[in-house]
Amino acid sequence: MSRVGIVALGRYLPSRKMTNTDIKELVETSDEWIVSRTGIKERRIAASGERTSDLAVAAARDALKNSPVKAEDIEAIFVATVTPDSAFPSVACLVQKEIGARKAFAYDISAACSGFLFALTTARQFIATGAVKNALVIAADRFTSIIDWKDRNTCVLFGDGAGAAVLTHVPSGGILSDYMISNGDGAPLMGVVPGGARTPDDNTLDTALLPYVTMNGQELFKHAVPGMAEAVSIAAAKAGLTVNDIACVVPHQANDRIIASVAKRAGIPKERFFINIDKYGNISAASVVVALGEAVETGRIKKGDKIALTVFGAGLVTAATIMEWSY
Ligand code: ACO
Repeated sequence: MSRVGIVALGRYLPSRKMTNTDIKELVETSDEWIVSRTGIKERRIAASGERTSDLAVAAARDALKNSPVKAEDIEAIFVATVTPDSAFPSVACLVQKEIGARKAFAYDISAACSGFLFALTTARQFIATGAVKNALVIAADRFTSIIDWKDRNTCVLFGDGAGAAVLTHVPSGGILSDYMISNGDGAPLMGVVPGGARTPDDNTLDTALLPYVTMNGQELFKHAVPGMAEAVSIAAAKAGLTVNDIACVVPHQANDRIIASVAKRAGIPKERFFINIDKYGNISAASVVVALGEAVETGRIKKGDKIALTVFGAGLVTAATIMEWSY
């Protein structure tokens, strides 16, 4: 396959911060419980009227600022989201209009917290086969729009934000391998049940039951750890590498204890994992690309480093990508 890599990254985090102390006003919890059980200290909350497409456009513009590929030359846009502004039109089409990517086709991808890597792999395939020369891959979620602020099992965990990457051919390095797997048996473990085509059409739905996330945290934890650890090993083997070759792992930021257990199971020291969950909580598909951007900007990832991204999400969906960082 011809070499495809990320040539620019961008992100957007809403300015409003919600600390653990703020959450204590809403549910019975404590900063001590949230920090010790999850690693989260604060999260960002979108402003009133700020939609997922606004977050996505801001992240896309940030990526395009430093991109060798300009908006008018982008040929494909993929947006990973589970909180689109509406069922349709897609967020991707709204982004296409706003950034003036007139030559692009655009559509959304639904793979919960794994969405960025599912979209990245899709984009890689389109470019590698010659169907398009480049792509803009965005992960954006206004996740707090589906949060029940009375449910302490979920409301402490999530935040809003977006990240974006521009992909095109690179002379060397780039994406070395990827791996994706789904397990629909785990579908009942997390979801937004009312809403969508499962909503009864005979008005029998309890109107008090709004479309909020429900989640079996303990069971997800048990799936997330082996899932993300094995995904890294499988993707590394596909690239002809071992985990010892990986300079930095950027994991989905769902829980600091999940990341610690993934490190142990994968046999990679936790110090090699990039973690920013304390600042943003779980921002769904955007977590991994926002973390990747910060890792590159702070020098944790340098040109030529072999890196792994690994993610896990509702579905269940798991993925990993191995790259040689190319700028
Ligand atoms: N504050 C205080 N106490 C709490 C809170 C809270 N916010 N939430 C739960 N508790 C209590 C529980 O009620 C329970 O009390 P009990 O022992 O009296 O019954 C106790 O704390 C322990 O609860 P557990 O659920 O066992 O806590 P656990 O250590 O498993 O942590 C958590 C819960 C943080 C949700 C963890 O299981 C987790 O992170 N799971 C993974 C979730 C995840 O990754 N979800 C996203 C998937 S990705 C995607 O697609 C979006």
